[in-house]
Amino acid sequence: MRTQVGIIGAGPAGLLLSHLLHLAGIESVLLETQTRKHVEERVRAGVLEEVAERLLIDTGVGGRLKREGLRHHGIKIRYNGEGHRIDFKHLTGSHVTVYGQQEVVKDLIAVRLGAGGDIRFEVAEVSPHDFEGAEPHIRFMENGKQQVLHCDFIAGCDGFHGVCRPAIPSSSLTVFEREYPFGWLGVLVEAPPASEELIYAHHERGFALLSMRSPQVSRLYVQCDPNDDIANWSDARVWEEFHARMSGDDGVRQQEGRIIQKGITAMRSFVVEPMQHGKLFLAGDAAHIVPPTGAKGMNLAVADVSILSRALEAYYKKGREELLAAYSAICLRRIWKVQRFSWWMTSMLHKFAEHTPFDRRRQLAEIDYVTSSRAAATSLAENYVGLPMERDWVQDNRKTQSRSSNDFFRARLANPWAAFRKRRDARHILG
Ligand code: FAD
Ligand code: PHB
Repeated sequence: MRTQVGIIGAGPAGLLLSHLLHLAGIESVLLETQTRKHVEERVRAGVLEEVAERLLIDTGVGGRLKREGLRHHGIKIRYNGEGHRIDFKHLTGSHVTVYGQQEVVKDLIAVRLGAGGDIRFEVAEVSPHDFEGAEPHIRFMENGKQQVLHCDFIAGCDGFHGVCRPAIPSSSLTVFEREYPFGWLGVLVEAPPASEELIYAHHERGFALLSMRSPQVSRLYVQCDPNDDIANWSDARVWEEFHARMSGDDGVRQQEGRIIQKGITAMRSFVVEPMQHGKLFLAGDAAHIVPPTGAKGMNLAVADVSILSRALEAYYKKGREELLAAYSAICLRRIWKVQRFSWWMTSMLHKFAEHTPFDRRRQLAEIDYVTSSRAAATSLAENYVGLPMERDWVQDNRKTQSRSSNDFFRARLANPWAAFRKRRDARHILG
């Protein structure tokens, strides 16, 4: 069996990559260990940045997103029992769209299968091989039979616990990591959300978030011990904590309803550098994790594969390798800014057991500042709605490629960042 790009993992990263490659006329085979039902029902992230929404719409997977996605022009931050609105439209001219990750996944699977795409669910013992050499291939078991998928490139889109990152020699990777001493208990509830916009609440009992999936279904979170047993969280306890942390004098009170899903997610910040090794490219959670407070996990996965698909397109259509060589450097620039934002939102809004009285006052002052200063609110807003994609770099690079392609390619392979800066600076100097 042979294809151009072998993709491991059918989450948002793998599915979108296979879709974007198909649109560029590049073949792929997508391997997934879980069932289709499992990946379509996995409740996770819920907020799409405008650039991610636009990409899905522009590439023909946005039909249902346009009809059912909930466009939000702001969020509320709540502390001391009072809500403060951050107005995205006013501050940035942009918005976000609430649309569940599992809906994005369903739409992508439908479009890929509709176009004759090759997605193999329920495969087992998947492992990438020879990505440092000339014959990259993926071994896997399908219906009890050993299979080998030969390919030009392997995309590791297999999430944080996948097999691709561990397959790279650890001496070639640097890991940057921070664990948080808390997690989120998330519930999906059959009841209308109490607010049209998301509410992020800082409270002395801990953080809480009111989100939604539709006008009839709410998605609620409360900060909890990451190692807590879900059995300790009866529905009654979830409601008690949620109401207490959201309480205030503006009458916002979430209507209770049947809890249809409940789970605890630990929180960590994680980045591996570089995100590529030979012909193996990591994308999405396989390469990085952000705490969910900035609503960025799925958006980063979309950004990675958008860059990877363009790099593969440049390779197949024009024989150019410099974008592939620079893939990791281009992605990491955005990833670190998003890491910073997600860490900052998390630090500002959660309760930390180790906080001293000084830390507490400083934390409250930070929330006060963000909700009362236009400059600070604008910074939050522009990060939340999503930083612009590195599109200008790609276009600039295309325009100037003919002038000095060999020098540029060599320099980038040696030091992707230096080459990137040199080119960007040259652009400014040359006007
Ligand atoms: P994933 O969605 O993890 O997809 C990876 C895929 O690879 C999976 O389908 C997996 O089954 C498959 N796979 C794994 N190993 C193999 C293998 N060996 N072979 C083949 N396939 C394999 N983000 C937010 O912004 N807000 C949230 O509320 C939020 N909640 C989350 C809750 C949980 C429990 C988790 C794990 C993540 C959450 N995230 C959240 C993060 C967000 O969902 C991820 O950033 C996003 O799913 C990344 O997409 P991905 O495609 O990179 O990885
Ligand atoms: C969600 O709706 O699941 C959600 C929204 C905002 C976040 C995290 C999760 O910051």
